[in-house]
Amino acid sequence: MSLTTDQAALDQWYVLGAVSHFPFGTPVETGLLGEPVTVTRRDDGVTVIGAGRSLPVRTTYNHVWTSFGTPARDIFALPEATEPDRRWLYCGGVRVAASGLRLIENFLDLAHFPYVHTDILGSEEKPEVAKYEVEQRRDVDEIWATKCEFFQPKAAAASDGGQISQYMYRVVSPFNVMLYKTPPTAPNRWDVIALFVQPVDETHSIAHPFMLVIDPTSTDAEIIAFQQMIFLQDKIVLENQRPALLPLQPGRETPTRADLSSVLYRRWLKEKALTFGTEPRTDGVAAGA
Ligand SMILES: [Fe+2]
Repeated sequence: MSLTTDQAALDQWYVLGAVSHFPFGTPVETGLLGEPVTVTRRDDGVTVIGAGRSLPVRTTYNHVWTSFGTPARDIFALPEATEPDRRWLYCGGVRVAASGLRLIENFLDLAHFPYVHTDILGSEEKPEVAKYEVEQRRDVDEIWATKCEFFQPKAAAASDGGQISQYMYRVVSPFNVMLYKTPPTAPNRWDVIALFVQPVDETHSIAHPFMLVIDPTSTDAEIIAFQQMIFLQDKIVLENQRPALLPLQPGRETPTRADLSSVLYRRWLKEKALTFGTEPRTDGVAAGA
């Protein structure tokens, strides 16, 4: 029996891990199904079996994806994946005691850089979040935040000094997000850093950070170590956040101007009537209202 009857959540695509590091043949934990699945690879492709049936499967962008329902659309487009000079780096799955939706929302938050990633992604001397733009792109059903700018003492593994980083954020589905960020070595292009979240239950998740970056100098180990250091700082904050479930009820958390993307993300989840990982509403309004 599934952990949830939330059809909006069941119908999403979820990452189970990176193809290059996948434990094919051993049972893999899945949150929404409430029991492990078995993922096997043969010459004719990858199959996912769970709850006695074959589940939808994709092996896109070096990740194994599955769904526990019927996805309305295929995996999102990522044109940067075809660029031959990009480094593809899987940073390993990290278990976090928090709702997957909290992980996505934290990833969208610029205001925490100076306090959580002090002297790396932000500086306590320059904590202001400049005005940026957010929009819901209805043709692709994505949330975008653009024209984000932030002073960063050490923006990436290849940085040798501070820079004003330009950012764009893109939420492609409730549990999958990515950011585009100016690389220190290629100011006219965008690094892509994705966070794919595999829910374990409503308040536990496995985060799969994934990078598609332009960095001709750093080693794989240096880039991955940088990303892991950043993510472990986030993990501490995420595991202490209360409530553990994402509140969608108006007034539970007061947004500031810096939270524009979070406000739109929550509104988008409400529009989808997604409830898995959200706080039960007590204002008498049903999900989706
Ligand atoms: Fe962070």
